[in-house]
Parts: sequence; C-alpha cells; structure tokens
Amino acid sequence: MTIRSVIRATGQYLPERIVENSWFEDKVDTSDEWIRSRTGIERRHFAAEGETTSQMAIRAAEDALNRAGMSADQIDALIVATSTPDLTFPSVATMVQAGLSLKTGFAFDVQAVCAGFVFALANADGMIRSGQAQRVLVIGAETFSRILDWEDRGTCVLFGDGAGAVVLEAAEGERGILASDLNSDGSYREILYVDGGVSTTGNAGKLRMQGNVLFRHAVEKLAETAHAAIDKAGLTPQDVDWLVPHQANARIIAATAQRMHLPMEKVILTVADHGNTSAASIPLALAVADAAGRFSKGDVIVTEAIGGGLSWGSVVLRW
Ligand code: ACO
Repeated sequence: MTIRSVIRATGQYLPERIVENSWFEDKVDTSDEWIRSRTGIERRHFAAEGETTSQMAIRAAEDALNRAGMSADQIDALIVATSTPDLTFPSVATMVQAGLSLKTGFAFDVQAVCAGFVFALANADGMIRSGQAQRVLVIGAETFSRILDWEDRGTCVLFGDGAGAVVLEAAEGERGILASDLNSDGSYREILYVDGGVSTTGNAGKLRMQGNVLFRHAVEKLAETAHAAIDKAGLTPQDVDWLVPHQANARIIAATAQRMHLPMEKVILTVADHGNTSAASIPLALAVADAAGRFSKGDVIVTEAIGGGLSWGSVVLRW
C-alpha cells in the first residue's frame, strides 16, 4: 500500500478587527466600487496592535488540533509558511511550538510569499512519505498590514491578516496528497518585493508591486502549474471537484478556473471577506469550506498559488 499525507483537520484564526473597503476612501484616492470591481475584495481583517503572526498561527493550530481530536504532543513536525515573521529569528514555527507547549519534534518556517503554503504542504508531504514525520502541522500565517505602504493605493487595499492550519497525517490508501508542482524564477524579483531587509536597509520595508504585470503572470502560470500537478497525479481537469486557489484577486481566480475548464461552482472563494492574506489564504479557504461541510470524502481538490520571487505551485489531493 502507498503511504500518503491525509488532511485530518483544518483550523483558522482571523483577527477581530474587520476593515471595509470604504475605510480606505479618505486615506487614498480609491473607492469601494473600484476595489470590488477590480479585485472582488469587500473587506479584510487586520491584526490588533501588538498581535503577532505567531499568536495568530497558534490560534489556527489549536483550532486544527481540536478538530482533529489530537493533542499537540502527537505532532512531530511543524511548518509555518510566512513572509511576515515576528522577528528575523527564531522562526515563527518554533514560537508556535513553544505556544503549544510542545518540546519534541522539529519546527521551521518556509518563505515563498503567497505560494508559501503550497511549498510548505509539498515539503510536509515529502517528509511524511520519506518516513521523517508521521503527523505534521502545516500553517500559513501573515500580518501583511505591517508591511503595507498606506499611501500606495495600488497595494494597501489588497491585503489582510490571518492564519490557517492543517493537520497532515501519514496513512495508507487512496486519500491524501497525490502530486505537487513547484516553480520559481528569481529574475522576476522586481515585480513583487519588499524594499527592506536585514542585510540591506536593516528594517522590514514596505511591499512594492507591479500589479498589472503580476496579473498577467498569475493567469498564465497558475493554470500551467495546476495542469502540471493534475497531470502528475494521473488525473484530468474533469476529475477535479474543487479548486482552492490563493485568494489574491477574484478576476485572476475566474481566469484560472476558465483555463482549467472549471465552473465557478467548483471554486472556493474567500477573497471578498479576507482580501489577500498571502500564505494564509489557502489554509483559510480550506478551513472555511471544510467548516461549511463543502468537501466530501474522496473529492479531488486542487490548490494553486503565486507570489513574490516569483514562486508558484500547485498541490493536488484527495480529501
Ligand atoms: N483605487 C483606484 N484606482 C487604482 C487603485 C485603487 N486602489 N489601484 C490602482 N489604481 C489605478 C492605477 O493607478 C491605474 O490608474 P492610471 O490608469 O491612471 O494609471 C489604474 O487603476 C489601472 O491600474 P492597473 O494596475 O493596470 O489595474 P489592474 O486592473 O491591473 O488592477 C490589481 C490592479 C488589482 C493590483 C491587479 O493588477 C492585481 O490583482 N494584480 C495581481 C496581484 C496579485 O496577484 N498578487 C498576488 C501575489 S501577492 C504576494 O505574493 C504577496
């Protein structure tokens, strides 16, 4: 029998503060109508002052463990996908480990910006299938509100904060992660980056993005990577029950679904309520859909994401 990585449970945490699009209208030259029609975003959550990425990650992890009926000491590896860590080091993952009072196993962060959760999931799957771990908590957690330039209308309206988590467990059988496809091309660095860092400015910096250039890469590369992962799984787009995409922009999601010949009824959408939460967006979308009972055992789910780097990828799994 084949050992696969099965999602046992999902978890989520969103900060209490909800900010509607209209909040931005007296800060930059924008409108609720522009944001809704160009992005599909209606509102987003922002972390409270002093609320950190690790605190949100711990809440999402606790939610996932509760839903899995597991205690933290059953987890032997913990991966956090984030580009907005509390500190330069130690990793957010080790902070989550401490927050869960876990003293065994190992913990580390993955940094692939908005594609981070897909990269983390593929890494966790590799560790499970190679026997390095039996149960892995994979978390996406971000406080993008801390790296936004509040005078740049092209970016500040797009992002939100939050955390999502999944518990992956080794199991024999047909369910679980079937295939993944990961890609990066560092020559596209200028399209999306943060203009600060440890070895350059010494501060965290602010997010800079060529939105319309990135839009074109996203539409092309997301469909390509999803097709590649579906193909590696020995499936066809007709076999796909759900697309759980990175939630950056409803128009990118619709264009990708169209290229995959998937009707929008098969697409999980949270971008209206969450905005772009970067590495947290896919686990949050999984958790929202799971809590609403939308997935059935055996459903084929495709996740895909693109982010700074550029880095992009897709994971196909059977629920
Ligand atoms: N309100 C009003 N007008 C705006 C706003 C705003 N918030 N933002 C930009 N505009 C203006 C621009 O200034 C421009 O005006 P101009 O024609 O006078 O110069 C006009 O709108 C059109 O600008 P575009 O950038 O061409 O608009 P577009 O339709 O491409 O939408 C958007 C912009 C929403 C950013 C889109 O390009 C997008 O979603 N890009 C991809 C973002 C993405 O996928 N990110 C994922 C990765 S994020 C990560 O990895 C961290």
